[in-house]
Amino acid sequence: MKRILTNNSVDFIGKTIQLAGWVQTIREHGKILFIDLRDSGGVLQIVFSPDVKDTYELAKTLKPESVVFIEGEVKERPASMINPKIATGKIEFQPSKLEILSMAETPPFPIDTNGYDISEDKRLKYRYLDLRRPRLQENIRNRQKVIQCMRDFLIKEGFIEIETPLLTKATPEGARDFLVPARLQPGLFYALPQSPQQYKQLLMVAGIEKYFQIARCLRDEDPRGDRQAEFTQLDIEMAFVEQEDILVLMEELYIGIIEKLFPEKKITSIPFPRLKYNDAMEKYKTDKPDVRKDKENPNELAFCFIIDFPMFEWRKEENPSMGSGRGRWDAVHHPFTRPQIDDIEKIKKSPEKILGYQHDFVLNGVEIGGGSLRSYKPEILEAVFETMGHSKEQIRQKFGHLLTAFKYGVPPHGGIAPGIDRFLAVLLNEPNIREVIAFPKTGDNKDLMMGAPSEVETEQLKELHIKPVGDEKDR
Ligand code: AMO
Repeated sequence: MKRILTNNSVDFIGKTIQLAGWVQTIREHGKILFIDLRDSGGVLQIVFSPDVKDTYELAKTLKPESVVFIEGEVKERPASMINPKIATGKIEFQPSKLEILSMAETPPFPIDTNGYDISEDKRLKYRYLDLRRPRLQENIRNRQKVIQCMRDFLIKEGFIEIETPLLTKATPEGARDFLVPARLQPGLFYALPQSPQQYKQLLMVAGIEKYFQIARCLRDEDPRGDRQAEFTQLDIEMAFVEQEDILVLMEELYIGIIEKLFPEKKITSIPFPRLKYNDAMEKYKTDKPDVRKDKENPNELAFCFIIDFPMFEWRKEENPSMGSGRGRWDAVHHPFTRPQIDDIEKIKKSPEKILGYQHDFVLNGVEIGGGSLRSYKPEILEAVFETMGHSKEQIRQKFGHLLTAFKYGVPPHGGIAPGIDRFLAVLLNEPNIREVIAFPKTGDNKDLMMGAPSEVETEQLKELHIKPVGDEKDR
């Protein structure tokens, strides 16, 4: 099909071309039928007149959202009919041929609105229709542009994009793990990665020096406005860096994205302020301060970094994937963060006094990234784990691979992982990250469109060496 996109049809005035797309709206005016044809390029007005009888009669049977193929002539609109609001507003299309490729049933909700008032369950059940709405089309396209910009920048800076495994071992990021039974090793499980944290550190041992990945992370936590069980990070790690190198890299990257893709936006302060955790807590009562000058301005972007976090915090809740115990010291960021002192005795004796080389990246009051310099001396890493209540045996079992790797020549290293979904939601003024993800899950982690999670055949469970326990209703 030698098809032209609607937005390019303006270059074909007076010529016969072929179009294909979705029927957005149908209006009848006198005897004339106006159809707005939508494709990935935009919208174009098609004018069916009774003069072209067959085509006109067929067009009258069309329903909104049907998919059509049209051949016809691009005409200039009379001056009084020009619509300056759309890219194709100067032209209209007079069809000579119409083919209905797929007739649509009436959609369960309108598609030409912003969709905020439609129930989320409905929107997610019919996400493929919801995604047709111009606002979401724009969000998804902007997402791709931002990711492309990140890739271009980092590759230019000498970073290597590397994929790390999805079937792996638990890595502590503070949430529950999704587990996958190992068919070939009865009773054993893989964990899906909460982040590629350990792999990226091992890549530093491997001599990669500058790594990045557009990484899918999986955390079994309850989704809410700024949280999904499955989300995407721009995961970064660098060897031979100090904390400031990482922050400067982020500044350059994010300023570049805004300048290139969103020139209408204004960044409040460059360089981005670096606030110490204690000062932020004192001044703003939060470690995610919103430092915008005008919170009503949708185009203001106030970035800042929070540094000098406490290394440990006392945590009461019990989380099986993080070890056990009713209360214990836990890493504020994660245990791989380097404490700001090297004195092992002090770390163990007064954990509450130790600061970590952690940096959070905040935009308009939302935490859009987190990272740290890492402990690369095995004895320090061990001291951190011990402070968190792990026995030597547990440390060996859970993190032995990392400690062993660090015996073979490890460069000082550090990194950061900005969350792509959260950044886009703030940037595009969306109230929650589901608006910038193609197929997000509901608040209770369901994919209503696919019907996941779903039951599986008993045979399949058997093969995986799994026996359900409890009542069916509990499962
Ligand atoms: P952290 O756990 O702080 O760090 O995550 C980094 C960033 O990822 C985003 N994020 C999320 N986005 C959507 N839904 C979620 N459930 C979710 N959880 C986190 C946030 C957050 O700031 N491995 C470390 C990074 C490092 O140390 O380099 C890590 O994952 O924007």
